[in-house]
Amino acid sequence: MVENIIVGRDKDDIKKYGEKGTAFIGKHIVGKGEDAHLTNPILMDVTRPHVVLVAGKRGSGKSYSAALIAEEILALPENIRQNLAVVFFDTMGIYWSMKNPNERDKDTLLQWGLKPEGMPVKLFVPKGYAQDYEDAGVTFDNTFNLVCSDLSAEEWVLTFGFSFVDEFGSTIERVIKKIKKDKGSSYSIPDIIAYIEADEKAERKVKDSIVNRFSAAEGWGVFGKTGTRVEDIVQPGTVSIIDVSHYMQISEGWSVRPMIIGMLSRKIYHARSMARKAEELEVMTGETRQTMPMVWIISDESHQFLPEEGKTAATEPLLTLVKQGREPGISLLFITQRPDKLNHDALAQSDIVIAHRLTAEADLTALRSIMQTYMLDDIQEYINALPRKKGVAIVLDDNSERIYPIQCRPRKSWHAGGSPIAIKDVGILG
Ligand SMILES: Nc1ncnc2c1ncn2[C@@H]1O[C@H](COP(=O)(O)OP(=O)(O)OP(=O)(O)O)[C@@H](O)[C@H]1O
Ligand SMILES: [Mg+2]
Repeated sequence: MVENIIVGRDKDDIKKYGEKGTAFIGKHIVGKGEDAHLTNPILMDVTRPHVVLVAGKRGSGKSYSAALIAEEILALPENIRQNLAVVFFDTMGIYWSMKNPNERDKDTLLQWGLKPEGMPVKLFVPKGYAQDYEDAGVTFDNTFNLVCSDLSAEEWVLTFGFSFVDEFGSTIERVIKKIKKDKGSSYSIPDIIAYIEADEKAERKVKDSIVNRFSAAEGWGVFGKTGTRVEDIVQPGTVSIIDVSHYMQISEGWSVRPMIIGMLSRKIYHARSMARKAEELEVMTGETRQTMPMVWIISDESHQFLPEEGKTAATEPLLTLVKQGREPGISLLFITQRPDKLNHDALAQSDIVIAHRLTAEADLTALRSIMQTYMLDDIQEYINALPRKKGVAIVLDDNSERIYPIQCRPRKSWHAGGSPIAIKDVGILG
């Protein structure tokens, strides 16, 4: 019998739980080149908090692999699934397609003993863009919005690309401080603008520039009177997709996305920290309480939100999760084309790495630095030995201190992230 390989789970947990609560991500590749063949299934633990890094060049299968982990969480037995939730920060607007079955790869799925299946994911879109989705015929489940008073002065400064040491930054800091003192947490963007206008220290030029930014922020369609509740996003046994892809198209896009990701991550952290306390109480007193499930936060293009160099509005909240997410039961899955550009604390904390094809020396070195000296085997060699197929990767498992070349399994749900081809009907080519 072919034995399954479990990654991300220590010996004690394997003894206690066996294969329960694992995700079937692919099969072990044994042999090189032409001789390569698929052997043991690879199962990844999804029930303990992890930091997972999914790296690889453009088009190597990263977004695909992340989605299949979400598929696996949805396929867990009810009693485990209810204790987990997935929140996808969808930077490219590709995960809505998970609702549809992957009919395209029906034959491949069959070879794996699987079949096409749509997933009951929940798509959240920014409130101000709801109409655009309706016009494009994309159905969504919910809108999301944030409250502008949740943003600290620093977050505004980072979002607008100012600095604390310039006049713009210091004016924003002064104004936000004053408005918070006067109004607590009930103020809106027009209120902030009025306070800027009333500020006596800043020069006209500076005021105009800041007012411009805040007026633009109104147009982001993301701020509302009451923010979306974390409980609506993080639901037991549910995959919620937060579509932030719209902000790629607007000029401030690079900073709006980290702002949204940062604020929601912070809210999730707080909510889970409270839930954790309730869970501890439950264990101590035996009283059952309604708590929030453990969360998997998945983010594409992570190096843009948690970069090694510089700071974004998502840096603090994501770093808090990297460093302290284990206690409240939050797992992170960082997808990146450039591991070397991802914050090195996040790299260092990764306990599972799924590395698709990577060639840049700096990126390979970054991977090597995660899996300390016990992994003297050359990562590059493992990657080079991978067959030239879509969805192949090496998995670095910190728990077993081993490397596995794997073929990720085909997806049950439709993948919308592939590259388009200008030939519409391949059939005509014969
Ligand atoms: N496990 C797999 N099995 C079969 N095909 C796969 C697999 N993984 C990826 N592919 C194929 O490779 C294509 C590219 O994958 P994907 O969109 O995940 O790339 P990516 O690494 O996220 O690229 P980018 O950096 O551009 O976002 C997919 O459209 C799919 O056709
Ligand atoms: Mg991708």
